[in-house]
Amino acid sequence: MKLLRINHLGIAAPGLDEAMARMERLFGMGADHTEDVPEQKVKTAFFPVGESRLEYLESTDPEGPVGKFLAKRGPGIHHVCFEVDDIDAAVSQLVAKGVRMIDPQPRAGAHGCRVAFIHPSETGGVLMELSQEGRA
Ligand code: CO
Repeated sequence: MKLLRINHLGIAAPGLDEAMARMERLFGMGADHTEDVPEQKVKTAFFPVGESRLEYLESTDPEGPVGKFLAKRGPGIHHVCFEVDDIDAAVSQLVAKGVRMIDPQPRAGAHGCRVAFIHPSETGGVLMELSQEGRA
């Protein structure tokens, strides 16, 4: 498995409007991509940072993963996403090692990527996402 780069950092936020206003105020920067991800019960906004990005996450359901995170820990860094060259191989290798996965198989994520999350109990408390860019 090869980790190519940090694709993005995910940040849980109470609201995207507020997050966008803050990024504009701090850095004069707008989102270059917004997307609803109903399966994850979030709305997302991506901000370019060099070859990486910040992904702000607004929960659309208190029972969703980000809603629960916000209730438990409050706003802040939610996950780190590593880009891999072959997500099927990466996930198979982890599963074969007995690593606890939130997604034992890759699934569709934002941006047309395929993603899989490793359970934070395996990573020292940091939720890690693996992602392979789509062929779009
Ligand atoms: Co992400």
